[in-house]
Amino acid sequence: MNLSVPLAPQNSRGLELVNPVMTASGTFGYGTEYSHLFDIQGLGAIVCKGTTLQPRQGNPQPRLAEVEHGLLNSVGLENIGLQALIEEKAPVWAGWRVPVFVNIAAGSVADYALLAARLDNVAGVAALEVNISCPNIKDGCEFGAEPKSAAAVTEAVRRATSLPLLVKLSPATASMVAVARAVAAAGADAVTIMNTLKGMAIDVGKRRPLLGNVTGGLSGPAVKPVALAMVYEVASAIKVPVIGCGGISSAADALEFIMAGATAVQVGTASLVNPRAPIEIIEGLEKYLAEEGIKDIKDLVGVGRG
Ligand SMILES: Cc1cc2nc3c(=O)[nH]c(=O)nc-3n(C[C@H](O)[C@H](O)[C@H](O)COP(=O)(O)O)c2cc1C
Repeated sequence: MNLSVPLAPQNSRGLELVNPVMTASGTFGYGTEYSHLFDIQGLGAIVCKGTTLQPRQGNPQPRLAEVEHGLLNSVGLENIGLQALIEEKAPVWAGWRVPVFVNIAAGSVADYALLAARLDNVAGVAALEVNISCPNIKDGCEFGAEPKSAAAVTEAVRRATSLPLLVKLSPATASMVAVARAVAAAGADAVTIMNTLKGMAIDVGKRRPLLGNVTGGLSGPAVKPVALAMVYEVASAIKVPVIGCGGISSAADALEFIMAGATAVQVGTASLVNPRAPIEIIEGLEKYLAEEGIKDIKDLVGVGRG
């Protein structure tokens, strides 16, 4: 059976994944943390932690709070910064079979372009995923709310690199379809749907918020129906591949996204519970195809749209 999927058919460098299951940014570190625990090379792709030009300390603790059917995080883009990523992580990735995508975040269009330009010819970097929204930091990154600002970032990054380009969309917008159309027109090879939803929880005993940052991003099973509807709507509006992300914990969840129109999926919060979740989801997809007598997973893309 064939599990491979094309992720950037319009890009001259091409990007074919051996299967459609990727890790979501911020939930699988740099991949290096897990490579000695189990075989990560069979993953479709790894998306590393959001990377900024300079290293970042992130937000005050506590940064994670479990809520009903989900997780709130306010990590605030703590990361090692671009230079350390290029010097310490990329050389390791260059020896891997699994492609690694670098997720980038910045506070200005110029900084996004700079990040993209510096990563353009770094061995070990297979693609970029541009985070145009980050609900957990106070100094910018809100480019994803409007089609115009989202397109401006995409255009600048597109000019700075020929790497396959995923643009990660935010649910915090009046119209995700409008933003998706704008970034596709500006040169995105694929869109990732979606980032976290803004949320909050209060400890009534202590009478204060659970998160040090007060609010954070909601992820996990609670957001799955929201992400699924957005994938469904965007997949019929644009021609570039859609990558579904939000609450995927099982092969059945992944299949829902594929049937809604996603070419590939990302697994986030589920990996924090069980780092093998993405591998188990791949195994579950293989089992489903075998049981259903389906030879190619691409035949399932969009079949559940009604
Ligand atoms: C702890 C944590 C850290 C995250 N960090 C990032 C990040 O750095 N960049 C990014 O684009 N998304 C980040 N995300 C969002 C996830 O990649 C994903 O879009 C979101 O959690 C929804 O998927 P899930 O429900 O499978 O977790 C983070 C999520 C979590 C839970």
